[in-house]
Amino acid sequence: MAFVPYDRPVRTAFIGLGRIYDLNVRAYVNNPDVEVVALVDPSAERRVQREADWPQAATFASVAELAASGIDVDAVEALLPIPLHTEGVIELLGYGWHVNLQKPICNDLLDAQRMLDAATASGLVLRVMENYLFYEPLRRLKSVFESGELGTIAGYHMKMVGSGAGGWDVPWSSFEWQIEQMKRGRGILVFDDGWHKLSTALWLFGPVSEVRAWIGTTSFGHGIDLDAPTMIAWQHANGVRGVWDITLAPDLYLRSDYYTNDERWEVTGSKGFARVNRCTGRGVQQPSLEVYVDGEMRGYHALDDDWASSFRDSGRHWLRWLRTGEGPLMWSGDEAVDVLRFALAAYASSGSGGIGVSPAQVI
Ligand SMILES: NC(=O)c1ccc[n+]([C@@H]2O[C@H](COP(=O)([O-])OP(=O)(O)OC[C@H]3O[C@@H](n4cnc5c(N)ncnc54)[C@H](O)[C@@H]3O)[C@@H](O)[C@H]2O)c1
Repeated sequence: MAFVPYDRPVRTAFIGLGRIYDLNVRAYVNNPDVEVVALVDPSAERRVQREADWPQAATFASVAELAASGIDVDAVEALLPIPLHTEGVIELLGYGWHVNLQKPICNDLLDAQRMLDAATASGLVLRVMENYLFYEPLRRLKSVFESGELGTIAGYHMKMVGSGAGGWDVPWSSFEWQIEQMKRGRGILVFDDGWHKLSTALWLFGPVSEVRAWIGTTSFGHGIDLDAPTMIAWQHANGVRGVWDITLAPDLYLRSDYYTNDERWEVTGSKGFARVNRCTGRGVQQPSLEVYVDGEMRGYHALDDDWASSFRDSGRHWLRWLRTGEGPLMWSGDEAVDVLRFALAAYASSGSGGIGVSPAQVI
C-alpha cells in the first residue's frame, strides 16, 4: 500500500514519557507539522510532569485506553523500554498508527520480522529513529571525507569511555529494564548505546561483510554487569575496516548535560584524517570536529554539537516525511534489521572466540 502524505499537521501521541522524552520532545515543540493529541504512560507521576508541556493533549495510563477514547491519532512516538518494543509496536500498528520507534528495534531477528510483517500487513510505516545520523559534527565528518580531501578512506575508529561521574540523573526504573536486557545478553554499552555506533558505520561506509569481537563484562553488583572492556572490529564490503573499543572509567568525571560517555569518531584516509571529538558528554574543550590534511589542522568551532539537537532534527525529519513522503526514513525497518544483524554478528563472534562472522549469516 503506497503511503499518502498528510495535507495537515500530523496528529501524534507520545507512548512512554520517561528519561528520553526530554530530548525527543524537542522535535515537536513549535513544529507546524504536528499536533500532539495524547500522552500515554502507566506512571501517574510522568503523566502529570509531561502534561504541562501539552495542555491540549489527553493523558492515558495505557495504549488500550487511548485507542478506546476515540481520539484520532495518525502516528506515535514510541519511547518504550526495549523489552516492550516488539509487543508494543505490534499493538500500536494494530490500532492503525504509524510508529516512530526508539532504537534498538528489538533483541532478535524473529521479533524484528514479526514487527516488519505487522507494518507490511497494516500498510503502515515503522521507522526506527537514529538520532546520531542527525548529529551535525558526524554529518560534517561524512561530507568532509565524501569531498575527497582525505584521499582514499582506509579506516574508521570509534572510541568510547563509559564513566559514572557527572551528567543527568537516570531513574532506577530505567536501570531495571536495562538489567533485564543485560541478563538476556543485550548489554547497555554494546547493544543499547552500541546500536548508534554500529549505525554510523553502516551509514558512512555501507554494508559490513565480516565482524570480529571480544566482548567483556565488568560487574558492579545489584545485577549491573556492564559489557566492557570490549573491542569490535569489522570490514565493510567496500574494503574499509572499522574498529570500536569500549573502556570503563567509573570514577572519571565528565561534564555532560546527558549521559557521561567520552567518545571519538575518526576517519583515516590516504592524505589525512577527520575526527569528531565528543557527542553526549562535553569532555575536553576541543572543536567538535577536526580535519588534518597536508600538515594543517582545521577546527570546526561553530557546529551545533549539542547532542539534544540530533533528537530534534531526527524527529523533525520524521514529521516532515509524514507530510511529504520524500527521502529516506533514516532508518526504515529493514535498515534497522541491518544494524541488528551487525550487533548479532558481534555477539556470535565473541561467543566463538573472536572468529569472523558475516552479518548476513546470523540467525
Ligand atoms: N536515542 C538515544 O540515544 C536513546 C537514549 C536513551 C534511551 N533511548 C531509548 O529510549 C527508550 C526509552 O528509554 P528511557 O531511557 O526513556 O526509559 P525510561 O525507563 O526512562 O522511560 C520509559 C517510560 O515508558 C513507560 N512505560 C512502561 N510501559 C509502558 C507502556 N506499556 N505504555 C506506555 N508507557 C510505558 C515507563 O513508565 C517510563 O516512563 C528505549 O528504547 C531506549 O533504548 C534512546
